[in-house]
Amino acid sequence: MKTIVFHIDQGKSIYDQVQDAASIIKSGGIVAFPTETVYGLGGNTFNEKAIKSIFQAKQRPADDPLIVHVSSRDMFSDLVSRVPESAVKLMDAFWPGPLTIVLEKSGKVPGTVTAGLPTVAVRMPDLDIALEFIRAAGVPIAAPSANLFERPSPTRAEHVLLDLDGRIDGLIDGGKTTIGVESTIVDLSRDKQVILRPGGIPRDFIEHVIGKVGLHESILKKQTSGKITSPGMHSKHYAPDARLVLVKGHGRALADRVNQLIDAKLKSVERIGVLVTHEPIERDDSVVVINLGTSAESIAKNLFDAFRKMNEKRVDTIIAEGTPESGLGLAIMNRLVKAATEIITV
Ligand code: TXA
Ligand code: MG
Repeated sequence: MKTIVFHIDQGKSIYDQVQDAASIIKSGGIVAFPTETVYGLGGNTFNEKAIKSIFQAKQRPADDPLIVHVSSRDMFSDLVSRVPESAVKLMDAFWPGPLTIVLEKSGKVPGTVTAGLPTVAVRMPDLDIALEFIRAAGVPIAAPSANLFERPSPTRAEHVLLDLDGRIDGLIDGGKTTIGVESTIVDLSRDKQVILRPGGIPRDFIEHVIGKVGLHESILKKQTSGKITSPGMHSKHYAPDARLVLVKGHGRALADRVNQLIDAKLKSVERIGVLVTHEPIERDDSVVVINLGTSAESIAKNLFDAFRKMNEKRVDTIIAEGTPESGLGLAIMNRLVKAATEIITV
């Protein structure tokens, strides 16, 4: 199939420009679109054929449920059967925004969307293009990140094409996404409120609104143990092609260790890449150095793009500096830990 790309001109009406893409959704097709976090691959939540083609295009296992994207509270109400007070508080505080809420699903949501679970994950994205697209489609849009299974989530339209060109009906090109890591997923469907995946909204923001929330035990672990509540916790989820050595630490000690590692690896004539989150590292052209910035916002925004640049440069080993696990840093470290083949603490 030919993938039609719709380029968005920010100077013109967004609503007018998303009509053709929305028509594809209405007729059962699938379209990738930008959100404030990463690009999603969307289809009509109520059309099982469309949902199946999303799984097929991504080569995603059918046991990994999709997030449903809404443009209004009415659309949300249709999808869920029980809404606790905590969910209302979180929606008031953070919607539209990078927060996904897991609740008991209504009978309207097909089991293909939720991978057979009795719950559904819902969010309202904070980007005009996404909201107008959902409005124009007139239905909630189920959408996983628009990458092939086990590849980094796309933060640019080019990334989507690299993975899915010819496999999807359309792509709305809205440029680079602003946040760069996926939404925070909080499960409010049980008695205990738990963050299943850290993301764009930090844990302390959530706790400020609804009190204590737990963190799923696998968030900073390489392997999942026990029952998988959120299959996105499969260990190799956000990985670049190369081996990735994550180095945790700070200051001089961190920089020294990273430089040592580069020197050691260079001896075995590998192609090395370095992801820097502290002081800039300078090396000659034999090493691919990407400075991600030092703030969590900047690191999050550039991380997946950097993974893909390392793929492009055919790097064998990536040495990645860690960052503190507070605030947005928890989401960053979760992605890095899952991508890592080795973790060193200095
Ligand atoms: O920022 C985001 O969340 C992006 C954009 C496109 O909205 N979406 C995204 O979707 O990251 P995806 O499919 O790549 O990750 C969704 C995660 C998966 O790990 C899935 O297991 C989990 O959400 N999930 C979906 N429904 C769930 C449910 N009912 N219970 C628990 N986890 C669920
Ligand atoms: Mg994903």
